[in-house]
Order: sequence, then structure tokens, then C-alpha cells
Amino acid sequence: MQSRVGSHGTLEEGGKEKEKDPVLKLVNQARPLQLRLLQFLLLFLGVGIVFSFFSMYMIRYLGVQQNNVVVMSEARFLPCELEPSSLESWIRPPSSSLHRMNDSELFWRASFVPRIKTYPFRRVPKIAFMFLTRGPLPMAPLWEKFFNGNEGLYSIYIHSLPLYQPDFPPSSVFYGKQIPSQMVEWGTMSMCDAERRLLANALLDMSNEWFVLLSEACIPLHNFSVVYRYIKRSRFSFMGAFDEDSPYGRGRYNGNMSPEVNIKEWRKGSQWFEINRKLAVDIVQDDIYYPKFEQFCRPACYVDEHYFPTMLSIQSPLLLANRSLTWVDWSRGGAHPATFGKADMTNKFFKGILDGKTCIYNYQPSTLCFLFARKFAPSALDVLLEHSSEFFGF
Ligand SMILES: *[C@@H]1O[C@H](CO)[C@@H](O)[C@H](O)[C@H]1NC(C)=O
Ligand SMILES: *[C@@H]1O[C@H](CO)[C@@H](O)[C@H](O)[C@H]1NC(C)=O
Ligand SMILES: *[C@@H]1O[C@H](CO)[C@@H](O)[C@H](O)[C@H]1NC(C)=O
Repeated sequence: MQSRVGSHGTLEEGGKEKEKDPVLKLVNQARPLQLRLLQFLLLFLGVGIVFSFFSMYMIRYLGVQQNNVVVMSEARFLPCELEPSSLESWIRPPSSSLHRMNDSELFWRASFVPRIKTYPFRRVPKIAFMFLTRGPLPMAPLWEKFFNGNEGLYSIYIHSLPLYQPDFPPSSVFYGKQIPSQMVEWGTMSMCDAERRLLANALLDMSNEWFVLLSEACIPLHNFSVVYRYIKRSRFSFMGAFDEDSPYGRGRYNGNMSPEVNIKEWRKGSQWFEINRKLAVDIVQDDIYYPKFEQFCRPACYVDEHYFPTMLSIQSPLLLANRSLTWVDWSRGGAHPATFGKADMTNKFFKGILDGKTCIYNYQPSTLCFLFARKFAPSALDVLLEHSSEFFGF
């Protein structure tokens, strides 16, 4: 206490004594310190500016380099700001079926359509085979055989229940074809959501021109060349759509859907469709009919049998063949079509499906009406594999 009072006393003495005061001494010493600090800061600023210019230069230089490297190595990931530098980055399909877009983002992205209809590059149109499944794909080996040798003419997308973990080996055409999926309840709007999700994912590949929806119980009835040619040469898309005056047809119509949908426009059809790119975009971008079906077509109105057929029949009736390419047997009656197993797999059975039917193909009668068939049980696989060339020509 004493000493502090004393030192305080000397402070008030003023004059030369001031120099001796420790606090003042510190203040005086601080002057060169401030100067040094200022110098240091200026140096720091200088280094900072030089470094910024250097990094800006490096980003531009390395950015271009990186882009070249990426194109050469066929790596598919590019930072956004580098994308527009080459056409390649716009037309190359996404490297992986996985992405982090939610449905709104995905559908928005998928709805991009070029206004110039001539492609300034060689575009080989592909068929997108979209499998809507619960889990496993028991017919995968038969499909593998079907796809074999036709690389570049098809793409594959699988929507399964979210918890299902596929176990395709890397050599399989189905490996990594799983798209980000969500829960599906059969017969509800979540099923149409899954189909729209498949379409949207497939639309991200510019080369996909036709979109075929299949289930795990579907098989091909012809070889790939026949399927490709039939779809490519058709002037119409194959969406089953008919006006059925019954409790299961018009009977499911709800008056609240008007004026967007009136009863004369109400259509029914199986969900297993083949549509072209234009119609696929129309389905993904739809916000006129979707809310109506979502709200007013609930079981016992099975929305997957009505939404797309009705919507497309209203918007683009002249683009539809109004029939499905997928054969199915309802003759046994009941709520579900017949499922065929091992014992049914005979030459006679497939002749029965393929022969003796006529349909209209490009305004002409044709005997080739179905390219796919359902429903087949896993037990049928072995016989189908063994006899595929006899039954289907592949
Ligand atoms: C997707 O994400 C965006 C941005 O977070 C959000 O606004 C939108 O509602 C989301 N959509 C869905 C379907 O979750
Ligand atoms: C596909 O099947 C058709 C008709 O059965 C046949 O003419 C054609 O040669 C087959 N193509 C191939 C590549 O096997
Ligand atoms: C399909 O049905 C629509 C009416 O919904 C009709 O305008 C169109 O001509 C039909 N398509 C064919 C190929 O008959």
C-alpha cells in the first residue's frame, strides 16, 4: 500500500522525474513498437495481396488444366463453374444413379428441354428400361442375356423400396442402377411418384429417347433388335388408355376433378407403359392434373391405373397408341392377373402369347403386339434361360 502511494506521489512531481515512471516508460517504448507493428501489418498486407493474385491466377490456370484432365480421363464430376466450357459436359450422362436432389429439385432439373430440335452432335437414341420393384429382380439373368451386345442403346434405372440393398456384382448391367427411392404403397399416389422419379432420373441422360416401365415380374418376349426397332419406328407411344363404362372404369371418376378432368376424358389403363421423351417431360412437369388425382383418386380408385392415361389422353391424344406393349393375363379373374411359374414355361405357352393376335401398328394391322410380358414367378427363370433362344430369339 505504502509503496504504491509513494510511486503515485512521484508521478505528480512532474518534470524530469516523469522519465523514471515505469508506466510512462512503457508508453514511450510503445512508439517504436507501434511503428514495428505497422510495418509488420503492411508487410502482411503485401504478402496477402501477392498471394491473392497468385491464387486467382492459379485457379484460372489449373481450372482449365483440371477441366482437360477431367475430360480426358472421362471422370464425370465437374465443379459447376467449369461445366459450360464444353458441350461434352452437357450431353454426358450422369456418372452415377445416385444424387442428392430431392424430388422438387430433381423434377425441375429433369424438365429442361432444348428449344433447338437438331442436335449439334451424333446422338444415338437409347431406351431407358425402368424397373419399379419391391426388392430383388429375380429375372435379372434373363434381362442380362437380352441386353448383352447392345451397349449404348439402352440405360437401366431401378426404383426399389428404400431399405432394400441390392447385391448385383460389378459385372452386372444392373450394378449401381438403383436410383434414390422412397416408400411405395401399391395403388396410391406414392406409386405414381415412384414412376415420375424413375422418369426424372432417366431424363437426366439426354440420350434417353424412350422410357419403358417394367416390374420385377416382367420378361422380354423378343430379342433386343426387335424391341428397339419396334419402339423406334412407332409413331405412337404405348400407353394403355381406354374409356370403360363400368364401376371399375368411369365408376372411379370423382366429379370434384372437373373442370381439369371431366368424365368423358377419364381413362383407364395398365401402368406398364412405353413413352417418348416429350411425354416423359409432360408427366414430370405436370402440376395441373397431379393435385386433382392426388386428392380425388384414392382407393378404391387406383390412381396408377388412371392418372397417366387420363392426363396424356387430354394433353396429347394423337401421340398415343392407347395400348400397352406388356402382355398380361386377366382371364383367371380376380383382383390380380395370373402369375406363371416353371410348369407353364413351354413353347406352346409362348406361341399362344405371340401368335394369333392382331393390333394396329402405325395405322396398319400387325401380329407383333407385345414386346414384354408379366407376371412370371422366380421359379420360371431356369427354363426361360435355358430356352430363351427358342422362345424369344436371344
Ligand atoms: C427440396 O428442397 C428444397 C430446398 O431445401 C425445399 O424448398 C423443397 O421443399 C424440398 N422438396 C421436397 C419435395 O422435399
Ligand atoms: C432377333 O430376332 C429376329 C426375329 O426373330 C431375327 O430375325 C434376328 O436375327 C434376331 N437378331 C439377333 C441379333 O439375334
Ligand atoms: C387414342 O385415343 C385418342 C382419344 O383418347 C384418339 O384421339 C387417338 O386417335 C387414339 N390413338 C390411336 C392410334 O388410335
